[in-house]
Amino acid sequence: MTTDPSNQRKPEPCSMIIFGATGDLTHRLVTPALYNLAAADLLPDKFCVVGIARKPMSSGALRDSLMKGLREFATRPVDDAVAERLLECVTCIAGDPTDPGSIDRMRAQIEQLEATRQTGGNRLFYLATPPDAFAPVARELRRAGLLREDGQTWRRLVVEKPFGTDLESAKALNRELLTIMDEHQIYRIDHYLGKETVQNILVLRFANGMFEPIWNRNHIDHIQITVDEKLGVGHRGSFYDATGALRDMVPNHLFQLLSLVAMEPPARFDAHAVRSEKAEVLAAIHTWSERDALQNSVRGQYWGGRIGGADITDYRSTKDVKSDSTTETYVALKLVIDNWRWAGVPFYLRTGKALGTKRTEVAIKFKQAPFAMFRNTPVEQLSQNYLVLGIEPSEGIALQFNTKVPGPTISIDGVEMKFRYKDYFKAEPSTGYETLIYDCMIGDNILFQRADSVEAGWQAVQPFLDAWKKAGADGLERYEAGSEGPANAEALLTRDGRNWRKFGRIA
Ligand code: BG6
Repeated sequence: MTTDPSNQRKPEPCSMIIFGATGDLTHRLVTPALYNLAAADLLPDKFCVVGIARKPMSSGALRDSLMKGLREFATRPVDDAVAERLLECVTCIAGDPTDPGSIDRMRAQIEQLEATRQTGGNRLFYLATPPDAFAPVARELRRAGLLREDGQTWRRLVVEKPFGTDLESAKALNRELLTIMDEHQIYRIDHYLGKETVQNILVLRFANGMFEPIWNRNHIDHIQITVDEKLGVGHRGSFYDATGALRDMVPNHLFQLLSLVAMEPPARFDAHAVRSEKAEVLAAIHTWSERDALQNSVRGQYWGGRIGGADITDYRSTKDVKSDSTTETYVALKLVIDNWRWAGVPFYLRTGKALGTKRTEVAIKFKQAPFAMFRNTPVEQLSQNYLVLGIEPSEGIALQFNTKVPGPTISIDGVEMKFRYKDYFKAEPSTGYETLIYDCMIGDNILFQRADSVEAGWQAVQPFLDAWKKAGADGLERYEAGSEGPANAEALLTRDGRNWRKFGRIA
C-alpha cells in the first residue's frame, strides 16, 4: 500500500507458485485478483504462475479450469485478451509438496521455467492449502533450498488463514515457520486488510485533525464492531463445525478492525511502525478469567428459517456437522483494553451466520452531552452521537447527531450526515486480494499480520475457548435463521445500560 500514487509501479520480475492451484480459493479469489491486476497493468513484465496440483493435470486443463472460475467469479466483465495473456503464464506441475522426491522434481521444473520466463529467481509461494499443510510444505521448500534468499533475489511465503486454532497452535506454527525462514519473508494474509474501507480507517483517523482529539475515553462511551452475515455454513460443514464463529472471525477479521480503530498513532506509515502499534493494542486487550469470559460472552447456533426467500436448514442438519454439535455460529463479546486511551471504554463485538441482514461496520458511540440544558423536554433524552464506519455492504461513513425539528416548540430528531464511497469514487469492484498480492510482489508487508499480533489475538480469545469447551451445551443459545441472533446478545449490552445500534444503511 503505497502513499504515493505516482509510485504505483510494476513489481520486479517474479514467479508465483500456488499450492492448492485446483482449489476453491485459487479459482474464487486469487485468479480474479490476478486478472484485475493484469487489467490494471500491475503485474510484472516478466512473470509466471506455477500451479501445484496433487493429481496429474496438464497446464491446458488447469488454464481451462481457471478460465471457467474467472468467468464465474470475476468482479468485472472479462476481457478475453487480458485473460488469455494472464493464463498463458500458467504452468501446472503435479506432485505432493510434502514429499521430498516431488519437491526436488518441482524445483528443477520451476528453475527451468524461471530461466525461460526470465523471472530472475524472485519467488512468491502462495499456500492456498488446508492449514495442516502450511508447516510441512514450508519445511520441504526450505529443505530443497527454494526459500533461500541470496541478497539479489527474494523468496516470500503467503500463508492463508486460519493461522492456528488456539494460542498454543498459533505459537507453535510461528515458531516452526520462523525456524524455516525470516519474519520478513512471511506474509500472513487476512483478506479484511485488502478492503478499501478497512484501509480507510487509518486515513480517517490520522489524516484528519478533527477526530483524534476526541478518540479516547474522555469522549467515547463505547465501540461496537459488527460482522453479520446472511449466509449459512453451506458446504463448509466439516471445516466450520471444527472451527466455529469465534475462531473463524474474531482473532483475525474482527481484531483487524479493532486494532485499526484502537491503535495509537504510528510514528511513520511503514510496516514496522504500523504493525507494532497494532500488536501493542491487541496485547493490551484484557485477558478475562474463564468465569469472566462466560459472563462477557454470548454464543448462539442457528436453527432453520428463511432468509431472502430461501430456506436455510438447521445448522445441526448441515452436511458434515454433528447432529448434537455445540459449535457456535454466532458470538457476541465484551472486551476491554487495558491502556490509558481506552480505560473504561468497552468494545462490544458480534458476528454470526444466517442472520437477517448482511452488514459489517464499526460504530463509535460518543458520550452524552455533559449538561442537560433542555430539561423537562423530550430533548433531555437525546440519543448520543454515533460515528459509523460502514465496511460492507454500505461503504461509507455516517455521523449521527440530533437536530431541532423545524417549528415553534423544541422537538428533536436524530439525523445522519453521510459519505458514500460510490458518490465520490468510481472504483472498479475488486476481490480485496489485488492490493494484498501486489504488496507481496513489491515486498510491502504493512497489510500483513506479524507473528506477535497473531499471538496477541489468540491470547485475548483463549479464555472464551477454554470456558466454552468446559461448558459444552450450557449457555449455547439457539436462534432462528433470518433473525437478529440470540436474544442474550442484546442483554450483554442492556445490562450495561446500552444497546446495539439498530440496522441502518449508509445508503
Ligand atoms: C472468511 C470466513 O475468512 O471470511 C468466512 O472463513 C466468512 O466464514 C468470510 O464468511 C467473511 O468475509 P467477508 O469479506 O464476506 O466479510
